[in-house]
Amino acid sequence: MALRTLDSLGSLAGKRVIVRVDFNVPLKDAVITDDGRVRAALPTLNALINQGARLVLCSHLGRPDGAPDAKYSLAPVAQRLSELLGKPVAFALDTVGDSAHEAVAALEDGDVAVVENLRFNAGETAKDAAERCAFAEQLAELGDALVSDGFGVVHRKQASVYELAEILPSAAGLLIATEVDVLDKLTENPERPYTVVLGGSKVSDKLGVIEHLLPRADKILVGGGMLFTFLAAKGFKVGKSLLEADQIDTVTRYMTEAEERGVELILPVDAVMAASFGADAEHVVAPADALEETAFGATGLGLDIGPDTARIFAEAIRTSKTVFWNGPMGVFEMPAFAAGTKVVAKALTEVDGLSVVGGGDSAAAVRQLGFADDEFGHISTGGGASLEFLEGKQLPGLEVLGWQ
Ligand code: 3PG
Repeated sequence: MALRTLDSLGSLAGKRVIVRVDFNVPLKDAVITDDGRVRAALPTLNALINQGARLVLCSHLGRPDGAPDAKYSLAPVAQRLSELLGKPVAFALDTVGDSAHEAVAALEDGDVAVVENLRFNAGETAKDAAERCAFAEQLAELGDALVSDGFGVVHRKQASVYELAEILPSAAGLLIATEVDVLDKLTENPERPYTVVLGGSKVSDKLGVIEHLLPRADKILVGGGMLFTFLAAKGFKVGKSLLEADQIDTVTRYMTEAEERGVELILPVDAVMAASFGADAEHVVAPADALEETAFGATGLGLDIGPDTARIFAEAIRTSKTVFWNGPMGVFEMPAFAAGTKVVAKALTEVDGLSVVGGGDSAAAVRQLGFADDEFGHISTGGGASLEFLEGKQLPGLEVLGWQ
C-alpha cells in the first residue's frame, strides 16, 4: 500500500497542523554545524504555509533522558528555521504544557511555532505503549491533523512517530514521500550496475544492510573502519586498526556468499596507516597485506583507505548506474585522512544515473568536504532509518502512514 499523501488531508487552510520533523541536527556550543535536516523540511513547511495552515512543529534533538536538559533545547533550531523561512517562528518553552498551548493559540493562518524537544517528556520514547499513547493524546490536543515528515526517525516506534499518527488524521509530508520514493528504487529493480559503498567504523552496524543487499547489488565496496575486519578475515594483520574480532566469521561468510552469487566484493588494496589517532599524526600508505610493515609496525592504525583503493572505488562508482553510499571511508574530520572520502564523494557526483548518499555521517562528510547537496541524486536525511529501509524492515513510522 502507498503512503497517504498531503492531499489526502484535504484543505488545511486555517487548521492547526502538527508537523513531526526530524530536527536532530549536530550542535556545537548551541550553534548548528549542519542544517541539512532543517533545509530538508522546507518544501513541506512552505507548502503548508502557502495553504494557510497554522503550523505546530515538533521534533526530538539528541537523546535527553525524558526530562528537560538545556543542551538539547530546540531554541537554536527554531532560530535557524526562522532565518531559512524568512519569517518569525514562535518557540514554546515546553512541548505540551502552557507555553505550547499559548504559542498554538496565538497562531494565525500561515504562522509557524516550534515546541520544545519531544524527548524532554518520558512518554515520547517510553517502552510501554500505554505511556506513549498518553503522551500522544497530549500532543494531539495541539493540532487538528498530523503531517509526519521526520524521515530520520521513522524506524522508531515513538509517541509522535507512531501513536500520534493513529490518533489524528495523518499523512506523509513531502520529505518522507521523496525519501521513500528514492530508497524504494534501490530495493526494487535498480538500474544496473548497482554499486553499494559502505564505510563507517563498525561492521556490526551494517550487518543487516550487507545481508539484504548482497543478493541485490552487483558490487559492494568496503571502506572506513570496518574494512579492517574484512582484511583480518582474509588473514592480514591490521595493527591497532579498528577490528571487530567477533565479526570475522560473519564477514568470512559474506565473502563466500558474494563469490557464490557473482557479486564483486571489492576490498581495499591499501590503507593510510598512522602512528596514532590525531590530526597531526605521522602517517604513510601501506599495501593491505603489509599494514604492519611500516615504521609504526604493529602499533600503527589505519585511518583512511589508500590512494590506489580510492582510484579503484572511484572507477567502480563512476561506471555504475545506481550507487548507494553509507559511511565515510576514513576519519574525514581530519584533513590528513579525508582523501578517500573525498575521492568517493567526487565519483558519486559523476555517476550517470542515480547516486544516493545515506546517513548523517556521510551527509555531513560531503558538506564538510565542500560538495553541494545538488551534486548528488539524493542525500537521505535518515541514518538508521535509511539503512533499515534498505534492510527491508517494516518501519513503524511508515507503516502507520499506509506504507507496506
Ligand atoms: C537520527 O539522527 O538518526 C535520527 O534523528 C534518530 O535519532 P535517534 O537515533 O536518537 O533515535
